[in-house]
Amino acid sequence: MVIYQDMKWLSVHGWKGRIILQRVMLVRCGAMLVFMCLAIALFVFPGHDAALADDRTVGQRIFSANCSACHIGGTNVIISHKTLRKEALEKYAMNSIEAISHQVTNGKNAMPAFGGRLTDAEVEAVAQYVLQQAESGW
Ligand code: HEC
Repeated sequence: MVIYQDMKWLSVHGWKGRIILQRVMLVRCGAMLVFMCLAIALFVFPGHDAALADDRTVGQRIFSANCSACHIGGTNVIISHKTLRKEALEKYAMNSIEAISHQVTNGKNAMPAFGGRLTDAEVEAVAQYVLQQAESGW
C-alpha cells in the first residue's frame, strides 16, 4: 500500500515520517475494511428482500392471468365453498405447495389443468402466492 508519493515523503521526513506513515496506512486499512463490510451488507440484505418481493409479484401475475377469473379475491365463482381461504384449504387438505401444485397441473372437475400452459416453476410460484394470500386473509 506504499505508493510513490509515500516513498517520496518518507525520504524527506526520515524515521519519524515512517511512524506517521504506518499510522496513515493503518487508517487506510481500517477505512477499506469498513467500506468492504458496508458493501457486503448492502449487497446481501436488500438483495434478499428484493428476491422475495420478486417471487411474490411473479406469483401474483400468474394468478391474475390464469386464476382470477374463477378465484378473484380468493373466492370460487363455480363451487362457492371451495375457496382459496385458509379454512377451506385446510378443510380440503389443499394447504400445501404440493397439493395446490398437483391440482393446478392436473386440474379437478370444473377446474382446468394448467400443466400444458404453465411451467413447473410457474405452478410453484402461484401455489406459493395462494398460500401467502390465504395466510394474510386475501
Ligand atoms: C375455470 C375456473 C377455474 C380456474 C381458471 C381456476 N380454478 Fe381453481 N378451482 C376451480 C374449481 C371449480 C375448484 C373446485 C374443484 C373441485 O374440488 O371440484 C377449484 C379449486 C381450487 C383449489 C382448491 C380450493 C379448495 O378450497 O379446496 C385451489 C387451491 C385452486 N383451485 C387454485 C387455482 C389456481 C392457483 C388457479 C390458477 C392457476 C386456478 N385455481 C384456476 C375453478 C377454477
